[in-house]
Amino acid sequence: MKKISVIGLGNRGSEYMGFIKAFHSKKAELYAICDISRQALADIGPKFGIPEERRYISTSDFFTEGVISDALIIATQDASHYEIAKKALETGYKYILLEKPVSGIREEYTELRDLATEKGATLLVCHVLRYANYYKKIKQIIKSGTIGDIVSINHTENFGYFHFAHSFVRGNWHDEFASTPSILAKCCHDIDLISWFVDSPCVAVSSVGGLRYFNKENAPVGATATCMGGCKAKNTCPYDAEKLYITDPFYKAKFIKYMKRTLTGKMSNSKEDIVDAIKNGDYGKCVFLNDNNVCDHQVVTMQFENGAVAVLNMNGLSDKMFRQSHIVGTKGELIGYGTKLEMRIFGGKSGGVFTGSPAVSGHAEGDIRTVSGFVKLVCGESNDLTDLTTIEATVESHDIALAAEESRKNGGTLVCLKK
Ligand SMILES: NC(=O)c1ccc[n+]([C@@H]2O[C@H](COP(=O)([O-])OP(=O)(O)OC[C@H]3O[C@@H](n4cnc5c(N)ncnc54)[C@H](O)[C@@H]3O)[C@@H](O)[C@H]2O)c1
Repeated sequence: MKKISVIGLGNRGSEYMGFIKAFHSKKAELYAICDISRQALADIGPKFGIPEERRYISTSDFFTEGVISDALIIATQDASHYEIAKKALETGYKYILLEKPVSGIREEYTELRDLATEKGATLLVCHVLRYANYYKKIKQIIKSGTIGDIVSINHTENFGYFHFAHSFVRGNWHDEFASTPSILAKCCHDIDLISWFVDSPCVAVSSVGGLRYFNKENAPVGATATCMGGCKAKNTCPYDAEKLYITDPFYKAKFIKYMKRTLTGKMSNSKEDIVDAIKNGDYGKCVFLNDNNVCDHQVVTMQFENGAVAVLNMNGLSDKMFRQSHIVGTKGELIGYGTKLEMRIFGGKSGGVFTGSPAVSGHAEGDIRTVSGFVKLVCGESNDLTDLTTIEATVESHDIALAAEESRKNGGTLVCLKK
């Protein structure tokens, strides 16, 4: 039985723990937990049977113990990933699953890559989409040569207007200086997919975009600092927090309605807790009068050494959350909507491709399969790192995202990537 510890017990950390308990409990034991929130330790500890002496309130307490488990999951917020991963490698952990993005600073993520190599450690980054059957199928078709050599990729990440408002206007990723720019925070997934599909180094990047809509110029007449602070536009505003988090009926509700823990920090909540969080917390703030600064739209073009080109469209405003991909090869093309995939061979057959993915977004499936892939490595059932999201493979997507930001801030000028 392998032991796995977890640092950061929020949405992601507790979700991963749930998967280990549900699908891998015969071979992996959740051993120790660490979080700076006493509430999180008290909520998650008993739920997963972690005794009090193995619940740590700080990473320094945790790492002082040395290596106490076979593997470690790090699921804290973005700004702490580098420090904690570095400490984990220095302490001697050999299997680490680290949440994305690794860091917004090149020297930091390349240092982690080098340190992992030096220590002989496997550091996987949670670019979970690669593990979903839908994206694995796309990669498999490309690798097989069926659509020839890739000429171009046109890929769009549609956040969903409510999701963008929740995470990137009101939530943890609204300030690029406290987290990272949205092109890295969210679209490192998409850039990782594109570079994995093309399988050639990216040589040049350009980008334009900005914060077009969620600013005070677009505030409706009568808007107030918080939705429940007397806003006159409340009834017609799609971002009204009371609707989104409390009153929308089941058939209209978006997934954020069920993320109550994010609003209050507590596992179980009364209606009063939620009302209080919306009246007084970040998630009830007007989306037009907030201090958010990350881009709500951005386009990135990429040129690869093998001649392929790609365009990524990051779209914060869409009714639904979904990814679209159009991959054009010399012999055929793939058209995908995040769940359904179609292949058209020029002068040949066209039709749907069975991906083996459920008919929902690849994210949840990717989350489950990422954890399974990690547990397999930890248990020695596989040592094949091909196509896995190692820190080595992650450097490319992070380099492209940072180059895109550099280009965008310089009016879209071409940024060449040095290798
Ligand atoms: N892979 C994906 O698809 C995906 C999706 C969403 C979020 N994320 C990333 O996952 C990470 C976690 O996101 P989340 O939504 O679970 O966040 P969260 O805020 O719900 O949870 C973070 C937890 O870490 C704890 N924490 C913060 N600093 C700590 C420290 N120094 N030591 C110990 N614990 C600490 C917090 O108290 C909190 O419980 C983020 O970096 C986010 O960008 C990844």
